[in-house]
Amino acid sequence: MPPRRLTNADLVAELAAKGVETSDEWIVERTGIRARHFAAEGVYSSDLGLEAARSALQAAGRKPQDIDLIIVATSTPDMVFPSTACILQNKLGANGCAAFDVQAVCSGFVYALAVADSMIQTGAAKCALVVGAEVFSRILDFNDRTTCVLFGDGAGAVVLEASETPGILASDLHADGKHVGILCVPGHVSGGAILGDPLLKMDGQAVFKLAVGLLESAAKATLAKAGLTESDIDWLVPHQANIRIMQSTARKLKLSMDKVVVTVAQHGNTSAASIPLALDTAVRSGQVKTGETLLLEGVGGGFTWGALLLVL
Ligand code: ACO
Repeated sequence: MPPRRLTNADLVAELAAKGVETSDEWIVERTGIRARHFAAEGVYSSDLGLEAARSALQAAGRKPQDIDLIIVATSTPDMVFPSTACILQNKLGANGCAAFDVQAVCSGFVYALAVADSMIQTGAAKCALVVGAEVFSRILDFNDRTTCVLFGDGAGAVVLEASETPGILASDLHADGKHVGILCVPGHVSGGAILGDPLLKMDGQAVFKLAVGLLESAAKATLAKAGLTESDIDWLVPHQANIRIMQSTARKLKLSMDKVVVTVAQHGNTSAASIPLALDTAVRSGQVKTGETLLLEGVGGGFTWGALLLVL
């Protein structure tokens, strides 16, 4: 995460100066968020992704030259094009390998992992770097208290390698474009100008209602594909949007909250970066251990949703 950390109190004070009223109590009670990090001016998704990538490569004992595929999940790319993956590749010094972005908003990391897994399974790649990186602070409307308190910036990454023993057991991806309007950034670039609103719009209640049902169905479909059940899950690592969505999903899957990795309090909703941030915290703290079965799941704009089951 970028160094600039704003607690709820910090954000409340900044918003109050603009005449936008909110409170620590409201944010904590409705979302579970206590702090978020915002990138400094001039810091892009590729910069945050670069730090995460270096850290993941070090943990995996691999060098940039070992990587033959880079996938970056982001909805806040550095440029319209080329992809953030290409920019990150050059900063990392992994030039020459395949590199592209996946745009599935908050489901992006699950989508990107599933794509990397498929490419490894077909032999198209042997060693993939999968990154979730976002600077959501750039697309927030700080006059809209219903959204600006929810999101933050960050990045996370994993290295996936071909192996005789599969780490990823199954995945299940979906989208339904009829829900485009409930969570979107409707603006676009045309003729040298931004047309439409370039800031995030969300119907929070509609998102909430859809999210819980879709996460349950993706989780169950993924488990069924692997021939496993809810009781085989050691850890649920959900997209960190909101503690109440995570609690509802855990209830539907009959999982105790003790089995859910929750880091949203410390970074807010970082979209495609939230699952790898949660995973990183859980792995490095020793909460989650090698050999355990993890269910990752995400939901986001599109509407997109998906789940992925893996043995660490
Ligand atoms: N501070 C204080 N009051 C607020 C704030 C705020 N930041 N935001 C809204 N309110 C007020 C509203 O104006 C409303 O006031 P009113 O009753 O006087 O009209 C009241 O709080 C309740 O508003 P609701 O929208 O009904 O609040 P709700 O309980 O639904 O919580 C929330 C809102 C947190 C956004 C919730 O709907 C939610 O969690 N939705 C899911 C959003 C989400 O997680 N999106 C991301 C998932 S997908 C992705 O990650 C991109």
